[in-house]
Amino acid sequence: MSKYSEKFEKMRIAGKLASQTLDMLTNEVKEGVTTNKIDKLGYEFIRDNGGHSAPLYYRGFKKSLCTSLNHVVCHGTPSDRVLNDGDSVNIDVTAVVNEYYGDTSRMFTVGDIPVKAKNLIETTYESMMKGIEILKPGIKLGDIGHEIQSFVEARGFSVVRDFCGHGISNTFHEQPNILHYGKKNTGYELIPGMTFTIEPMINVGKLDVKVLNDGWTAVTKDKSLSAQFEHTIGITEDSYEIFTESVKGYTRPPYN
Ligand code: MF3
Ligand code: CO
Ligand code: CO
Repeated sequence: MSKYSEKFEKMRIAGKLASQTLDMLTNEVKEGVTTNKIDKLGYEFIRDNGGHSAPLYYRGFKKSLCTSLNHVVCHGTPSDRVLNDGDSVNIDVTAVVNEYYGDTSRMFTVGDIPVKAKNLIETTYESMMKGIEILKPGIKLGDIGHEIQSFVEARGFSVVRDFCGHGISNTFHEQPNILHYGKKNTGYELIPGMTFTIEPMINVGKLDVKVLNDGWTAVTKDKSLSAQFEHTIGITEDSYEIFTESVKGYTRPPYN
């Protein structure tokens, strides 16, 4: 048994609950539903399955998950806003079970979305997976950023710099920061037992972001569409483990 096997076992449990919450919400994301309804369903599902939602009361956040629509980059707050045909929305769930955290987000689409939005969502998902697939002890943090940035920019989209992935275990956000841009062979070396998120935010237009007066909602300055996916991951002896993989095989839309 390795030193970190107990930690990984707890990360698996928390990660699974977070991903099952997104699985459960998949059928609920449709025209006419408010983001508050999604928040309530997520809150109840996590509570009824032995966990609690990390975002609720986190640094003054008032809801149980984040719903970031269209040009919202991240940290959108659920509200009375109704989902409409053509919307794309990121739902970001963080579940805590036995003090350990599982943090994951996916994009969801409502009705028919523009081709540009489809391309953005596909590119964002692929970029996250490119960042994940190279993971093993000995590579450096900058290698992850390089994989994501080079892939995204080759497709003409931009990588948000103002938010990043993070270490995660028995605290929500810990060291190190995981940048989604960077240079090969720079930054800390990965070692077995490390646990962190990869959660690239990718824009159709420029990378610039501003935070609205509510102190949370981050939007693209040029109002262009933004997308994000997130997994919580652990580094193993020779590879990696994704703690937040969908039990139902839901990776990216369309999910049917
Ligand atoms: N889940 C987000 C992350 O990926 C953090 C949300 S903090 C909140 O790190 F307060 F906005 F919920
Ligand atoms: Co995160
Ligand atoms: Co998150």
